[in-house]
Amino acid sequence: MDSLADKDHRHLWHPFTQMRDWMAEEPVIIARGQGARLWDTKGREYLDANASIWTNIHGHNHPRINAAIRAQLEKVAHSSFLGLSNVPAIELAEKLVSIAPVAAVSDRRRLPEDEQPAVRDRRYSPLTRVFYSDDGSTAVEVAIKMALHYWVHRGQPQRRRFVAFSGAYHGDTVGAVSLGGIDLFHAAYKPLLFEVEHVADAAALRSVLERHGKEVAAVAIEPLIQGAAGMKVWPRGLLAETRRLCDEHGALLVADEVMTGFGRTGTMFACEQESVTPDFLCLAKGLTGGYMPLAATLTTDAVFEAFLGSYEDQKTFFHGHSYTGNQLGCAAALASLAVFEEEQTLEQLQPKIGLLRNDLQEFCELKAVMEVRQCGFIGAVELGSYPWKAKAGIRVCQRARELGALTRPIGNVIVIMPPLCVTEDELRKICEALRRAIQEELR
Ligand SMILES: Cc1ncc(COP(=O)(O)O)c(C=O)c1O
Repeated sequence: MDSLADKDHRHLWHPFTQMRDWMAEEPVIIARGQGARLWDTKGREYLDANASIWTNIHGHNHPRINAAIRAQLEKVAHSSFLGLSNVPAIELAEKLVSIAPVAAVSDRRRLPEDEQPAVRDRRYSPLTRVFYSDDGSTAVEVAIKMALHYWVHRGQPQRRRFVAFSGAYHGDTVGAVSLGGIDLFHAAYKPLLFEVEHVADAAALRSVLERHGKEVAAVAIEPLIQGAAGMKVWPRGLLAETRRLCDEHGALLVADEVMTGFGRTGTMFACEQESVTPDFLCLAKGLTGGYMPLAATLTTDAVFEAFLGSYEDQKTFFHGHSYTGNQLGCAAALASLAVFEEEQTLEQLQPKIGLLRNDLQEFCELKAVMEVRQCGFIGAVELGSYPWKAKAGIRVCQRARELGALTRPIGNVIVIMPPLCVTEDELRKICEALRRAIQEELR
């Protein structure tokens, strides 16, 4: 083992990793990347089949994003966002608001006359305010705290309950874990968590809101598909129904698009597919094209204005992080959004979604495969119900790695979510490596 591997084993603690197993194996140490490919320090080449844990969009080492970061670096890397502003953070906020999910006309009607934001043209999004943080978990924390505090400012402090979905994953900070519904990840931390009502479907949500609607601050959802639950695709219409139920009972809607944002589901945001605008839109992972830790929580004028008051009123949103609005991250995000336009990323993606569909069908022929699922450019292959200790998903991914495709399983679910820029040939190679790995490991 080389000395870097030794040092890793001696000093590092990796996320979501059983370190005893880790220390028994030689780690893959990534040295460089290009497009959908990564190379390790031994020169071995891999296809990035899960987009570096669902973050990378336009590929590694993209010249446009590299240049934007370099140019920003020549100016300033970071200055505080507390009491100061900066150029790329302002430009990115304007850009995000301009592409935020557009409200259906009926949504617009639901706003009281005095809360109607200016209609710029036919496009209209009530999400007009951007609050920056660092990653998906913090984007969700911001939404939780803003929602709770909003109701205090609106004179309805009894609205302090949160509702989330069974199997939800919203991140690993304590507030986000409270919303989470995956026992394996979350149960150990119960003593730290606030109470959240978890519902399995629209009927259960309706029932909770009928009983406690006036006490609910917000309902959180991963739109169209739950990620860490094992890529579980929601029935069509659940998102729109959740919006409708929130409106009926006056609750705010938090759309956690940390995974689904920036094209993964085939549209820029998953919410677009059911014409839903949430009250909070949480963005991270793909925001910077997968380059830097930056997150944004978008919200409405109505929420923003509830926090306005005189200094003595103490209505300020007392929340923020040292690196809020980081210039390098914002420059990377602006460049990534420019690449969406320049490379027509979403248009180029549509045929690849069809190819992924065909490729997934071929997995169905394997005996070890129970089900395949797809939502846009997110694919999942669920293996049969192998027991936890059989490590079926882990073994398949380890073998796929030897065959040149990197991904991580969620239990027995194999995730296929390459960068959107992946070529048709690379996509085929990823699927071939995974199919062969399943055949060899789970005869
Ligand atoms: C839907 C969703 N929300 C939040 C998060 C947490 O994001 P992060 O790991 O950047 O904190 C994730 C991470 O996988 C996610 O899938």
